[in-house]
Amino acid sequence: MNQKDVKFRLLFEDNPMPMWVFDRATLCFLEVNHAALTHYGYTRQEFLSMTIADIRPPADVARLKDSVNRASGLALSGQWRHRLKDGRMIDVEVASHTISYGGRQAVLSVLQDITARKRLEEQVRQSAKMEAVGMLAGGIAHDFNNLLTIINGYSQILLNTLPQADQNRGAVEQIMKAGERAATLTRQLLSYSRRQVLQPKLLGLNQLLIGMEAMLRRLIGEDIELRFAPGREIGQVNADPGQIEQVVMNLAVNARDAMPRGGILAIETRNVELDENYTAAHPAMQPGPYVALVVSDNGTGMDAETRSHLFEPFFTTKVQGQGTGLGLTTVFGIVKQSGGGVDVSSEPNKGTTVKVYLPRIDQPAAAEMDAPVAPATRGSETILLVEDEEQVRNLVRHTLRREGYKVLDAPSAAEARRIAGAHKGPIHLMITDVVMPKEGGRDLAASLMHDRPALKVLFMSGYTDQAVVDGCLQSGKSGFIQKPFTPAALSSKVREILETNGETCHGAGR
Ligand SMILES: Nc1ncnc2c1ncn2[C@@H]1O[C@H](COP(=O)(O)OP(=O)(O)OP(=O)(O)O)[C@@H](O)[C@H]1O
Ligand SMILES: [Mg+2]
Repeated sequence: MNQKDVKFRLLFEDNPMPMWVFDRATLCFLEVNHAALTHYGYTRQEFLSMTIADIRPPADVARLKDSVNRASGLALSGQWRHRLKDGRMIDVEVASHTISYGGRQAVLSVLQDITARKRLEEQVRQSAKMEAVGMLAGGIAHDFNNLLTIINGYSQILLNTLPQADQNRGAVEQIMKAGERAATLTRQLLSYSRRQVLQPKLLGLNQLLIGMEAMLRRLIGEDIELRFAPGREIGQVNADPGQIEQVVMNLAVNARDAMPRGGILAIETRNVELDENYTAAHPAMQPGPYVALVVSDNGTGMDAETRSHLFEPFFTTKVQGQGTGLGLTTVFGIVKQSGGGVDVSSEPNKGTTVKVYLPRIDQPAAAEMDAPVAPATRGSETILLVEDEEQVRNLVRHTLRREGYKVLDAPSAAEARRIAGAHKGPIHLMITDVVMPKEGGRDLAASLMHDRPALKVLFMSGYTDQAVVDGCLQSGKSGFIQKPFTPAALSSKVREILETNGETCHGAGR
């Protein structure tokens, strides 16, 4: 080789991009450069004994042959998937053109691994989609929660007043049942959009699961065996118990649906330490101590295609009416908001294992407290009620008056200010919607509390950013109740706030 040939050879051999030349007729590799060897992991001998079809997934071979047969090597340019020596598939961008090489028709290709870029693009697309659906869901949930407060509230009032023997009770019960189902759905939408107000507290997963056992058995039916294996000395987690119950329910229902002819549903808990190896593959999580909640079934399992869409909102393989495709999305939303992660492994016909990791707080589980005595709900204090939705306002006023309170009510913050200004006596509590046109409940509360330092405030909302509520609650002497609520829940929340004295913040009520 003369000097010039050596120099040109270097341009190929030392090129930082993987490059190769293959025979157009036989598809055999004729030359590969150093970057290709290190990137793909095959030795030079291995490469030279293979064809370019050997490093493709079988599904792509037909397209490959078709492209090679077309007149110009350009048809081979574009995006392809290649198999590395260790079995991993990568996405590559290929630039090719035909050359004459040692008297043969050959193709010269330069390759760029775009796997990481594609994954990133996919993540961006995915999170944009989640964000958009989240906004939509949050918006719908806001209106629905007002409607459901009205529907569920009045049906409960009706049910309380109908005599036991009344033949219309059945009809009202059906309305209430449907209303509760709809409330569950909006709750799911909200936790998915992460606009749910969480009420985290330290809790032991084992106690929570024991409390759910009877309900779970009813849910999965007789053909499925429930095997519950609580781990020993499980650390506590800081999470919203209602939400964690929802996680367990959704996973159990999925397992049930995957075992139409019966099977085994296993629920386990254990302490785990997640190390950097694990979190490298799950960038949203930190290494450290976790409690794992493992739900497995030996049902139908899932193929790779289904697995790849699992957490997408509205992705379902179930017939219409049987699944909304929000189950796992909700699970994901709740767990993520609690600082944890979800791992799913599944094989067709072998079953599915879902691992939910929640950050562990190593503290012995607190002794179970005695069930609280149902608080009194009646009172005679004066309450200022501010709510722009007329029917919700009517319902709340009706409920409070029945319990003996004096109620002043206003459809807006401005009207509430006027009423408070004109009212000579004390106002013990203001109940206000958080989100209202013109002026929200938070600003109203701040200014009224300035004039009446003894005033307590109960915020109600169906759709709120956690931050807004945290801000409200920081102002002290205030509480929160999530719409839709029942008249009974409202009454006991009102009593609870009226009876606490001092600057305590109440947890957000459901
Ligand atoms: N344990 C499981 N075994 C087999 N397939 C499952 C399992 N869990 C989930 N899947 C698959 O994932 C899909 C999405 O599940 P997801 O819980 O999000 O929605 P869904 O169950 O279809 O509807 P929804 O939970 O809203 O009623 C299911 O339709 C099913 O194909
Ligand atoms: Mg489901």
